[in-house]
Amino acid sequence: ARHYAIVPAAGSGSRFGSDTPKQYLPLAGQPLIHHTLAALCRHPAIDRVWVVLSPGDEWWREYDWSALGPKLETVFHGGATRAQSVASGLRAAQMAAAEDDWVLVHDAARPCLAAAMIDALVAELADDPVGGILAVPVADTLKRADVQQRAAATVPRDGLWQAQTPQMFRYGTLCRALAANPDVTDEAGAIEALGLKPRLVKGDASNLKVTYPADLSLAEAILRSRLG
Ligand code: C5P
Repeated sequence: ARHYAIVPAAGSGSRFGSDTPKQYLPLAGQPLIHHTLAALCRHPAIDRVWVVLSPGDEWWREYDWSALGPKLETVFHGGATRAQSVASGLRAAQMAAAEDDWVLVHDAARPCLAAAMIDALVAELADDPVGGILAVPVADTLKRADVQQRAAATVPRDGLWQAQTPQMFRYGTLCRALAANPDVTDEAGAIEALGLKPRLVKGDASNLKVTYPADLSLAEAILRSRLG
């Protein structure tokens, strides 16, 4: 089976609070999403990468993406939700992908994806009947808040993991799962709704999602430290 990647990048990044969508903010000398796409395009196991952009995206054409090579395809058909954007990517991949090919869905907003993380996911799931996701065990103590923002309960963290991306499933299964469950916040959620149990492959906290401005400095430090 082949491995394809879909990168939803049609979000407006409203929590970040910047006029430029966060995927285009400068990070270690490149637009943020350049790092994300480079990790996937440069990985030998990945055959092709579809980046799903908003139809109104005015930023993409401002940059030079040629360093990413020939694996990259653009889809200017992102939707109102992340799941809809992923579904657009799956439609674009239809000509290339067979039912049992693997699809890795990866957030544009996770620029610190390292080759070793893709290696681990691909190797650990190679013979898996369902597929799975990178995830990390929850480190902090969790509180359930009441309406006054007071801690009403402590949620035991045993067995709780934070889902990351990439999330890797068979093309056919993922298409069916998202068609049946379009309101999920990640692909694994749609797979679970089919009654299947995605494998949790241990990732690393450095694969953070840039959501708030402070995340950008952290991502920059992580990328710079890898340059040695
Ligand atoms: O907003 P959040 O960081 O959770 O988004 C996760 C990923 O999904 C981002 O890469 C974002 O660009 C993408 N997304 C999308 N289409 C949407 C909403 C989010 O492609 N409508």
